[in-house]
Amino acid sequence: MKKVLAVVLALALTLSVVGMAMAEGKVGVAMPTQSLQRWNQDGENMKAQLEAAGFTVDLQFANNDVATQVSQLENMITNGAQVLVVASIDGSALGTVLATAKDAGIPVIAYDRLLTATEAVDYYTTFNNYKVGQIQGQYVVDKFDLSNAAVTGPFTIEFTAGSPDDNNAHLFFNGAKDTLQPYLDSGKLVCLSGQLDFETVATPAWKSETSQARMDNILSAYYSDALTGGTTLDICLCSNDSTALGVTNSLVAAGYTAANIPVITGQDCDVANTKNMIKGLQAMSVFKDTRILAAQTVTMVSDILAGKIPETTSTYDNGLIQVPTFECTPLFADVSNYQSLLIDSGYYTADQLAD
Ligand code: BGC
Repeated sequence: MKKVLAVVLALALTLSVVGMAMAEGKVGVAMPTQSLQRWNQDGENMKAQLEAAGFTVDLQFANNDVATQVSQLENMITNGAQVLVVASIDGSALGTVLATAKDAGIPVIAYDRLLTATEAVDYYTTFNNYKVGQIQGQYVVDKFDLSNAAVTGPFTIEFTAGSPDDNNAHLFFNGAKDTLQPYLDSGKLVCLSGQLDFETVATPAWKSETSQARMDNILSAYYSDALTGGTTLDICLCSNDSTALGVTNSLVAAGYTAANIPVITGQDCDVANTKNMIKGLQAMSVFKDTRILAAQTVTMVSDILAGKIPETTSTYDNGLIQVPTFECTPLFADVSNYQSLLIDSGYYTADQLAD
């Protein structure tokens, strides 16, 4: 009897401690758009994990429209949010509304994308964005054995980068470009279009249609005889999956198949792109487990509201201040490891990836 009582008491104590540890507070989560797969996942993960920790969540998507995101943030402030988590559309365009948050004493966490040109940002959670580009570039180096002196190429390459208003897009591009620059310099890699600077290869709003149209033009201007024994296109270095999808669609429409499609890089392991990897239409992607990013951000929110200083791993310079940052690790993904990375880990079901 005594033993039973002790167990009951211990249980009650545990429950009350857990109860006390359940956080309270309202968190505003601003996401850029539902039109790109990853932000739906990020939004869902953040909401589920914040609610599981005891918070009330105001989750909004802004349809890739800056004015909409500004007004959503204004509403969150008015409605009593105690912390704001912001994945921006244009990282430099939110200064005024973030200043309002700062004046109201509301801490701001930049989520995945850095908030720039403002002092009203307290923390940043993201992946190592430069590393994402390095993983893509290194994949090309390894795939074509470029560091081997006996390999001279030349191999042709075209670049497709992300949205200029997204700080990440610059980091992805620089990571890949810096890794490949020695081989562009030595002539082992050749870019026939000559389109090598970020502004020229950027894709506003990361739109697949835009990267597809640009690749249509490049193919007809520089590689029109590629499928009839002329100059082949060997590599399409794309910064993420939405731009890779446009490039792939362009190539497939031009008559390329899994047997002769260039090596295409990506990032995010979107469903459509993972299916393309399985079909041999995209060579690799970079997996950024959004569950981990959400978990890290929820820990940060809990710490802030509990008056603790959150753990950070580095700082990012946003043009005005050094923002304390927690960086998660991006992982290489291709057809050889998608099963364990994406399916066994529960990120996707096998059905989601079936054609
Ligand atoms: C994210 C990428 C994503 C891109 C387009 C970037 O800020 O880091 O994961 O592919 O936005 O949504």
